Amino acid sequence: MMLVHNVRLPESPEPVDVRIAEARFTQIGADLGVHDGEEVLDAQGRLMLPPFIESHIHLDSVLTAGQPEPNLSGTLFEGIQRWAQRKATLTVDDVKERVNRVVRQQAGFGVQFVRTHVDVTDPQLTALRALLELREELAEWMTIQIVAFPQEGICSFPDGRELMTKAADLGVDVLGAIPHFEFTREYAVESLNFVCNLAAERGLLVDVHCDEIDDEASRGLETLATRAYELGLGSRVTASHTTAMHSYNNAYFTRLLRLLQMSGINFVSNPVVNTHLQGRADTYPKRRGVTRVKELTEAGINVSFGQDDIQDPWNPLGTGNLRDVVFTGLYVTQMLGHEQIENSHRFVTSNAARTLGLGDEYGIEVGRPASFVLLDADTWSQALNWNAGVVASYRNGKLIARTEPVRREVLF
Ligand code: FE2
Repeated sequence: MMLVHNVRLPESPEPVDVRIAEARFTQIGADLGVHDGEEVLDAQGRLMLPPFIESHIHLDSVLTAGQPEPNLSGTLFEGIQRWAQRKATLTVDDVKERVNRVVRQQAGFGVQFVRTHVDVTDPQLTALRALLELREELAEWMTIQIVAFPQEGICSFPDGRELMTKAADLGVDVLGAIPHFEFTREYAVESLNFVCNLAAERGLLVDVHCDEIDDEASRGLETLATRAYELGLGSRVTASHTTAMHSYNNAYFTRLLRLLQMSGINFVSNPVVNTHLQGRADTYPKRRGVTRVKELTEAGINVSFGQDDIQDPWNPLGTGNLRDVVFTGLYVTQMLGHEQIENSHRFVTSNAARTLGLGDEYGIEVGRPASFVLLDADTWSQALNWNAGVVASYRNGKLIARTEPVRREVLF
């Protein structure tokens, strides 16, 4: 039994106490009082949030930037070329060593759930085998969802359909696709049909790299949303990136929005990496290349934010700290109203939980698993602004990471 004393929850400005027993939250309220023999953690009025969720990352490629060559143009497409070179040299041990390092980095920033895309356009499926092992080995500390991600296409890559089916047989959680990279529009549609049907048949989730390009004619999203709607997959489907939506004309977007609402699908935006990768064919003005987060959110559609890449061919920087992603995302999407800032933790907490389908196994509520983070700040806007450390990250009632609060002295 443990009592976390004097915490602030985002929705209640007055401090409360939180009681934990048998790895679950059992009581939340003001001045609960200490029970005999109970361990007490004094949170000193700090903000408590459910653990952070990384809803879009490519763990297989982390820490490979510059190997064997850097991505000099900074485009998505040169990134795919550079990765293809590095992919040819992958071993299970190499992938596991890099991912083990990054997962611990993420845990230090309060992340406890990760959805990783893993490239399956590899006849050996080396990265996938490594990630499947890690999903089991790390389960006590980190929940890892694996997406079979066909980086070089399904219909445009030799045996693409077979590789996706094999990945499903091996036990991935989610099926992906990459319609904007397929050779033709017909292949794009065919790949989405293939994946949605396979997911429906196997009871898997879907998360598509959808229209990650500045081409306003890239419209895989309407096909994906239609399949999700017709097959009744709804929130089991996610459209990641959707950067072409940035360039859609408003008449088309308005028509599309109705379908998106009817379909119930989720969106993941990766504002840090897409501001780096997109707009590369533009001179000036240069497009930001980030999907319409504000408009989707205001239309009641679920959007979360992801880091996408950590020091790999698509992003030379990145630590896994989701604060940086939210901070940048709010600026890029012009969502800096007071309420928008205070609510923005949802992009990496509850909204991401919906995308991952975590249901009742997530959130600070009585009866749910006692997993939470304590931030060195009393509100989310302060935590965001000052890049507050995660002083404690608890998972199922157990401390799994901590950071000493920063104490600065100015000597004048
Ligand atoms: Fe991605």
